[in-house]
Order: sequence, then structure tokens, then C-alpha cells
Amino acid sequence: MKFDSFAVVGLAMAAVVSAAVRPDQTVLSNYDQDLYLVELGPGETRWIPEDEKWALRRAGINFMDITDTPELGALRALDVRRDATVQFPKKPAYNDSLVPLLKELKQKNMHKNLEKFTSFHTRYYKSTYGAESSAWLYSKVNQTIYDSGAAEYGVRVETFEHSWGQNSIIATIPGKSDKTVVVGAHQDSINLFLPSILSAPGADDDGSGTVTILEALRVLLESESIIKGNAPNTVEFHWYSAEEGGLLGSQAIFSAYEKEGRDVKAMLQQDMTGYTHKTFEAGEPESVGVITDFVNPNLTEFIKKIITQYCSIPYVLTKCGYACSDHASASKAGYPSAFVIESDFKYSDNKIHTSQDRMEFLDFDHMLQHARMTLALASPKLRTFTGSAYSQRTLGFETPEIMERVQNLNPFVKREQHDKRAIIIFRFLTLFTWLLVFALSILFSVKAPANGKTIWDQNKAHPTPFSLNPESTSFYWLLLLLLQFGYLYCLFTFDAELVKVAANVGSHFIAHNLLTSAFILLWVHSHLWIGELVLVINSFNLTSLYFRHLRTQPFIHIPVVTGPLAWNFVAVLSNGAAMVGAHSLAARILANVAIWSILFYGFFFMGAFKDYPIGFELAILSASLAVHQHGIRVFALQWIFALVIAILLLTAALAISIPPIFGKELIWRRLDDDESDYEDHERDALLGDE
Ligand code: BES
Ligand code: ZN
Repeated sequence: MKFDSFAVVGLAMAAVVSAAVRPDQTVLSNYDQDLYLVELGPGETRWIPEDEKWALRRAGINFMDITDTPELGALRALDVRRDATVQFPKKPAYNDSLVPLLKELKQKNMHKNLEKFTSFHTRYYKSTYGAESSAWLYSKVNQTIYDSGAAEYGVRVETFEHSWGQNSIIATIPGKSDKTVVVGAHQDSINLFLPSILSAPGADDDGSGTVTILEALRVLLESESIIKGNAPNTVEFHWYSAEEGGLLGSQAIFSAYEKEGRDVKAMLQQDMTGYTHKTFEAGEPESVGVITDFVNPNLTEFIKKIITQYCSIPYVLTKCGYACSDHASASKAGYPSAFVIESDFKYSDNKIHTSQDRMEFLDFDHMLQHARMTLALASPKLRTFTGSAYSQRTLGFETPEIMERVQNLNPFVKREQHDKRAIIIFRFLTLFTWLLVFALSILFSVKAPANGKTIWDQNKAHPTPFSLNPESTSFYWLLLLLLQFGYLYCLFTFDAELVKVAANVGSHFIAHNLLTSAFILLWVHSHLWIGELVLVINSFNLTSLYFRHLRTQPFIHIPVVTGPLAWNFVAVLSNGAAMVGAHSLAARILANVAIWSILFYGFFFMGAFKDYPIGFELAILSASLAVHQHGIRVFALQWIFALVIAILLLTAALAISIPPIFGKELIWRRLDDDESDYEDHERDALLGDE
């Protein structure tokens, strides 16, 4: 961002003279290293020493420090369904139950909290003061929860620890689902001239946002219905550490959320909510500044409506540049985010990052307007977003209690937490059933059971228009089993997040293994009718897995979801044809038609979800059909069709998968002056989803 240079020099001097200089403060951090990896714009990275970080900041150049989180957003980038979007309500209905709550927001609380919060010499994230201010904030949030009586209903606050010593803080009000709305502010402050020495009260940046969302939280907790968890979605309040270090705290949190597959519907950042002086001085009307660059446009539209509905001042549209606050971390992880500041950017506080960022310059009336907006967004009715960043299915109605109880017993349900016993059981059953499939498929490929045939002799005994080629089909299975081994690895690592994600699909995978084992046994013993039934049951199992867990990482999605699903689809056809002994002319003609279902099946998943893995998989299986049909050549059309289908599937899958590999040329510009025109690439950088 741009500073008025005279003001900066003046302030710097004032800072040095008047600040309580405390060079004795201990620097806590384990985070110190020689070089840091900073991202100055999407994909533009550089290794620099720490003092250069502060020099860049002083020069008004924003960056994300991605040293510890280079992978943030990577899973999203790989996600085959990444461009599904959350649907925000067209109009936030005026909500009567919110009116009495809005009245409960009190300036004096924000004032009192900010007084304490700015009394720390600095809240620099690597300093002991920063750790102390964080501990104070934690206890304040905790006290607020206990005072409201919400703790007994599961409202809670947790620290999110970082290597540099100052914790981030997360308060959660659970709702009926784990779809989450996040409101955030950053708790750290910085004096950009000498961060570990000079004072940094950080009253506006971002003490103001910190106490704004804290007051909104306090008031929300006054509602009995809210604390009892009656809202459809969950809401979290985040106080990030180390925003000033390059969005470090928020990146760590959203990186964890991304890995866990957390479903964040919306994130609203409140950073600098209290300064109005320059707006008034310019003779402009008091307003809030809605940031329009590098944010989610749909969520931003929704926030504008909330402001119109629930604040008594208007908004102005303004810009802030790349990665200017923690909403950028949420965006990078693929979650819709928005950012609102105290005014038009050009009238915002220029005393920030100095020892002059003090409370006495702030306007608590104005802060209250930000608190109203926060409270409105966090209120149950307004946080009922449909659709998802990851197109997770929404039921569209609130789950009644009885349903919830059923869900608790249902092993297929996606959970935020699995207890230790459940994980042990999952591990055991997964390994056991996977080994069973592995053993049975290898064993019966080479050896016939006592009163049956080997897998491939059985195939030979039933030459049909859907018989597959043994070699390429075995290759498919070996590849699949190998990839599944990778999945097993996830389930057995010590990385709790990974284990949780893996365990979420565990029941379906175990069911798939059991059903497949049964099918193999039935096939080699010539029980084709029952075998077909088993395959159909597994189709239901796998299809439901697919739609319940749309947002699984590729290393789970491919071996556990699409690989088995593609196989199962072709197996239903193949076994079905063998079962009815498709030899008559009518049956052959029917087969010539039915084979196209493979193409439609693949095109459906690729069209609806850009799911190219399933395209590749079906292409392999279709090619396998083509090879074998060519071999038996009972009816030439079948192998030609199979080949055409394989080629079409392969082409479509390549067309979908290749562009993201090479990436699109992303242009970005720094916000060098307030007039610069961002229109043409407003959303590309952080959303980058199309
Ligand atoms: N609160 C500021 C950003 C800001 C400044 C918002 C003025 C609105 C008006 C934030 O704490 C900050 O300083 N951000 C840095 C970038 C960050 C990634 C280090 C910035 O904008 O320079
Ligand atoms: Zn700042």
C-alpha cells in the first residue's frame, strides 16, 4: 500500500523519539531462519532475508510469506471439481430476531477491551509481548464464553499454535452442520521500523477488528437458541497471529482446513474498523470500505446487501492489492472470502505500523457499524448458505434430532473427529479387507478353486460382447491396488488430519473390498446371477461414496472412489452379459447399443465435475474391451465401438486435465496507486478457478 512519504518519515521519527524503546524483549521464535520464501503475486516467489521483508513492507509492497505453507491451495488446484461455487442468498431477508441482538452491541466493551489490548508494548508475533497479548485475548474469549453459559453446549475456544510463539485463537459456535462461516481479524501488531524494539499499539491495525469481532461474539452468545446449536451452520471466530509477518497464522490455519477438507462457506475479514478522520476531513460521508479486488465477488455482493440492511451507514467500493490481509489465505485455500475496511482505502489510517497507531484516534461509533455487519453475517439465518465451495451436497433442510442420532450410528457419515477406537477399527478392517481382495484376485488369476475356474478361464468360458482382455484388465487392477496402497499409507500415517480424511471414506472402501471379494468368489464358482447382484450393490455403495465425498483429495479420490467406480460399471456390463449368455443376434445388437453407456457414464462425470480421472479409467477399460472383442471378433462392430469410445474418453480426459497442468498465464499488477485499474483481473489471482 502506499504511504504518504512525509508522513511516514515524520512518524518514523516520532516513533523513535516517543516510543518506549524496549530492546530487551526476548524474541521467542523457532521461526527464525536465514531466508524466507515470499510470494509477491500469484506464483511470483522470492527467497529473502528477514530485514528485506520489512523493507518491502515499508516500501508498500505486500506479500505472503509462504515458507511454511508453500502448498496452500495446492489440493484445491488439483481438485477435479474445484470450480463449484457457493450460492449466497440473493437478498438477506430482514431478520426480526436479529434486531434485539444488534442493540446489545456496546461501544464501551470494545473500548475497554481495546484499552487493555493496546497496553502491550507491542503484539509483534515473535515477541514475548505478542505471546502475552495472545494469552490475554484467549482468556478474554474464554471468559466471554463461560459468562454466557455457552460452554456447556459445546461452544469453545482453542489455540492454534505456531512455531513463532504467538498462538492464533479460534472460537467455535457449533451449528447443526459442519459447514462453517468464519469471521476473522488479526491480533498481532507491528512497528515496521524496528519490529523487535519499538512499540506498536496497533489500535486500528488490527486491535479494532479484534475487539469488533469479540463484541459480536459476546452478543451472539446471548442468544440461547444460538448457543444451543440450533443454527444450520457453524460459525467460527478467528484471531490470527502473524498477519504482519505475511499472513502466517491464517495461512497455517487454512492450510490445515484445506487438508482436512473443511467446508468453509464464507470468510469475512475485519482488519481496521475504527478510523474515520480522513473521510470526514475530506467532507465525504462516513462509510465502510468494501474491498473488491482479490475477493470472492459473490460473497462480496452478499456482504454489500448485509451492510445496506443492517448498518446505518453506506459502503464505498475500494481496493487493497494482493494479499493485503488474512482473507487472502482463505481465498488461496479455495474458500470464498471478503474483506471490509473502515473507509475508502485512500482515507484509511496512515498511522498504522507505527507507535502512533493509538486508540485516541479511533471512532467507536464506526467500529460499532462493523460489529453490526459481523453479527448479522454470523447470525443463524444469514449464515445459511447453500451449495459449496466444493459442491458438497446440502440437504436443504435442517436435520431433525432423530436424523442426527441416526447419523451418529451411521458408519458412512463424514465426521470432524473419529475417536481412537474407531480409527483402530478402520485401520484393521481396511487393511484386512484390502488384503483379502489382493489375495483373492492374485490367487484366482493363477489358480482355480477346487470346484471352479480361474478368473480368466471363466472369462474364456463366457465369450460375450462385453468380455475384457485379461492382460489389460489385470494391469488396471494391479495399478488400482498399487494406488490403494497409497491410500492405506494415508490411513496409517501419524498425520492426524490425513488419517481423518482417509477414515471419512473408510466405511465405503471396506464395503467395496468385501463386495469385490464376494464377487471374485462368486465369479470363479460360476454364480453369475448372485455376482451381478453383488456388483449392483457395490454400484450403490460407490456412487453414494462419490456424491457424499465430492471433496476428497486426488490421492484418495482416484484409488478409492473413481478407480473402483469405473471398474464396477464395466463389470456390471461384463458379468451381466456372461450371466444372460449374450449370444443371440438380439443380444449382440443390444450390446452394440449398451456399450455406449460407458461413454455417457464417463462424459457425465467429466461434464458435471470435470472428473478426468474417471475418463482415463474408463478409457483403459474400454480399450481392454476393444482388444478382446477384436480378438474374438464375433461381431466386428463391438470392437470398433469400444475403440471409438476409448479414444473419445481419452481425448476428453486429456482436454480437461491438460490446461491446469500448464497453467494459464496469470497477469497481475501491484496496486501502485489508488487509481490503478484492476477491473480486468479482479478475481483471477486468488480465486484462479476458471
Ligand atoms: N491492515 C493492514 C492492511 C490494510 C491497510 C487494510 C490499510 C486497509 C487499509 C494489514 O495489517 C497489512 O499491513 N497488510 C500488509 C500485507 C501483509 C501481507 C503483510 C500490507 O497491506 O502491506
Ligand atoms: Zn498491518
